[in-house]
Amino acid sequence: MKKIVILISGRGSNMEAVVRACAREGWPARICAVISNRPDAAGLGFAAANGIETKVVDHRRFDARESFDAALAHEIDRFEPDLVVLAGFMRVLTDAFVAKYAGRMLNIHPSLLPSFPGLRTHQQALDAGVRVHGASVHFVTPTLDHGPIVAQAAVPVVAGDDAAALAARVLKVEHDIYPRAVRWFIEGRLSIEGERQDGRVVLTPSEPQWLFADIAGEGV
Ligand code: GAR
Repeated sequence: MKKIVILISGRGSNMEAVVRACAREGWPARICAVISNRPDAAGLGFAAANGIETKVVDHRRFDARESFDAALAHEIDRFEPDLVVLAGFMRVLTDAFVAKYAGRMLNIHPSLLPSFPGLRTHQQALDAGVRVHGASVHFVTPTLDHGPIVAQAAVPVVAGDDAAALAARVLKVEHDIYPRAVRWFIEGRLSIEGERQDGRVVLTPSEPQWLFADIAGEGV
């Protein structure tokens, strides 16, 4: 049984998608804990209601990134996880923290990386005038929103979209690709090609690591 710890900062809908898929599909894995850096993160309620241990490590109680990350790592390590899943965890992580979980920490980012790292990705996409946008699941490396890509999902940008409409369309596909990617990790099917931490991901046996949104009914 593999052990997973999920980190959230807010709503936690991606965490919820992973928890539900794990239960529904009977993964050989257990979600041991959901940890938030914000005491008011809505997702903590879902986790607790589903019998998952929850913990808050409030970043405002620390005066340096290093001390916060050390406290967070301490809580994570109590569960000895095989995998750390960042699910809307809105913190920039120190190199030491990233190095500690190298090769066993995944993130989902709401853009087709390497386009639009950072915040306000949907507005960035609208401002750039791209016609296709989406989300990426990747291994976490020291460079923010960068790292070997495990899966990507694409959605159209349609006339009249604002950032909220686009975010909702992207979120739907996030809930599809993130559980899939986590499951591949749990099944031991992911490897990173080459010696460098930022090499390419190989999925064995292979299957599509992409998803194109079902746009039927969207009028495009
Ligand atoms: C998701 O859209 C996720 O991709 C994004 O935050 C949202 C969290 O929603 N993550 C990032 O922007 C990380 N850089 P959720 O709490 O409902 O899963």
